Amino acid sequence: MSVKQQGHEGIFLDTGKLDEIKRFHAMGIIRGVTTNPSILLRDGTADGMDAIRRSSIEIAKLIAPMPLSVEVTRNDPEIMMKQALEFSGWAENINVKITIHGPQGELDNLRVVHELEHRHNVRINVTAMMSAQQCLAAAMAGASYVSLFGGRVNNMGYDSRQEVRRTRNLLDQLRLPSRIIVGSCREVLNIVEWFESGAHIVTAPPALIEGMIVHPYTKETVEMFLRDGRTIDKTSGF
Ligand code: E4P
Repeated sequence: MSVKQQGHEGIFLDTGKLDEIKRFHAMGIIRGVTTNPSILLRDGTADGMDAIRRSSIEIAKLIAPMPLSVEVTRNDPEIMMKQALEFSGWAENINVKITIHGPQGELDNLRVVHELEHRHNVRINVTAMMSAQQCLAAAMAGASYVSLFGGRVNNMGYDSRQEVRRTRNLLDQLRLPSRIIVGSCREVLNIVEWFESGAHIVTAPPALIEGMIVHPYTKETVEMFLRDGRTIDKTSGF
């Protein structure tokens, strides 16, 4: 594990929304941020490459030294290489996301990942992976992060927890330093169950992290404390 990665494990925020990042960062409960082109488009932060550059620099500065993952927008090997070098130059804590292969199963991606990690010292998050065996290949190529899309695995009818466990066991057994990010979070429960299965990092959208914290029975309990507190206040002159 590189020195820069140390200590940045736990919950990541899967969003491009600066106000949400500020909110959760101020609570001290996130250890990084992940984005992808679809998230940035949905969050309205992707109006051209210039907008992506500006918002990535702003997010990276806000959360530094915690990592921000920014994904390449193309699958051409030369362009992936060029974008990765450019994105990683925007801020020291920016990692670059590259998918495990292209839309037709093109294998150039791992060559690009290997070259970026080993020749250019760029930290790569290999993404869009659905199985432990894909994560193993990415880790062997030298990826700093391997991103397993747990929610999509579940949607295909497989048990994502098993893939997380197998991935962690393989990395530990082979002493591969890649950190496992489990993303594609669909339910509040996923966050804890993926950590229990061996994830180093779970990246989740703001609504699910909020859902993890807020509990109806806690609301009721707090309401009781406040009601009784008001009674005490009345007699103590507050
Ligand atoms: C995280 O790094 C991924 O980009 C993200 O969680 C993907 O989620 P999705 O399956 O909702 O697209």
